[in-house]
Amino acid sequence: MEAVMDRQLSLEFARITEQAALKSARLVGLGDKEGADQAAVDGMHEQFALTPVSGTVVIGEGEIDEAPMLYIGEHVGQGGEEVDIAVDPVEGTNLVAKGKNGAIAVLAIAPKGCLLHAPDMYMQKICVGPRAKGRIDIRASVTENLKNVADAMGREVSDLTMVILDRERHEKIIREAREAGARVYLITDGDVVPSVDCGIQGSGIHMVMGSGGAPEGVLSAVGLKCLGGDMQARLLPQTEQEIQRLHTMGIDDPNKVLTLDDLVKGDDCIFAETAITDCAMLRGVRFFGGGARTSTLVLRYKTGTVRFIDTVHRFGEDKPGVRMF
Ligand code: FBP
Repeated sequence: MEAVMDRQLSLEFARITEQAALKSARLVGLGDKEGADQAAVDGMHEQFALTPVSGTVVIGEGEIDEAPMLYIGEHVGQGGEEVDIAVDPVEGTNLVAKGKNGAIAVLAIAPKGCLLHAPDMYMQKICVGPRAKGRIDIRASVTENLKNVADAMGREVSDLTMVILDRERHEKIIREAREAGARVYLITDGDVVPSVDCGIQGSGIHMVMGSGGAPEGVLSAVGLKCLGGDMQARLLPQTEQEIQRLHTMGIDDPNKVLTLDDLVKGDDCIFAETAITDCAMLRGVRFFGGGARTSTLVLRYKTGTVRFIDTVHRFGEDKPGVRMF
């Protein structure tokens, strides 16, 4: 198993999210969601071809008939150890299209069979950092969870900041969090970034609650697992077809609570995200004449390493000077 998640691979995966972010950042603010996504898919796909793994996309751009590249089941990589791959070339396509903060290119890798093959449906999620590990319960109320997390962190509920997607379906959660006294950040899109930020002390984010994409849930789970945080989730099938889909995954009870270890099995995984636009912990892609600069976060479960990678990319033959900041 050791060789599967070879330590050299961390940097290889950073190169993949960097390429996706660089390509899609050209379309920031142009109102073109699909174009931004396609550019990132192209960047990821090209870079995977240079990466020494034998990967199977288990979370990707859709089924084979919906997506020509990075579709579920596609084999990517130059060859090497067998791994499961989850990708979201642009997490927050609206954010890129509108030139708003919080968009990333993201991927997660784990040994074959270790990532939940989450279908494209909603997932109810609760995410916290290491200090609140073991103190969340998705079946309990928002108030109860806030109290337990505050207690675990040695603070008042009023000292907690919870992130929630600003959706009508979250009206009750938002009301309850406010009544309990928590500070509430409502975001328009992109719940992976705050979910992972919960795991980093100093990010200013302590909890994420609500429902969002299930694929994004698995990506968040890998990040949180690497950081020692915690997460619980429940798939939320809306149609008979989606319920059937759960049965085929071996989940007969749609209310089944998925723990962090159900979402990401085993003791080996890597998470990488590159900011396309500015995020709380990472700066978005900045272009300059002849190059660009990117900020990437790479996490490795095995060693617990947290890498903030600041890269200057120089395009073409000329090597323009590099500024410090
Ligand atoms: P896209 O990047 O695919 O547009 O998804 C962004 C996102 O905001 C996710 O971060 C979140 O989990 C999901 O969409 C929420 O779904 P919805 O917009 O349907 O509430």
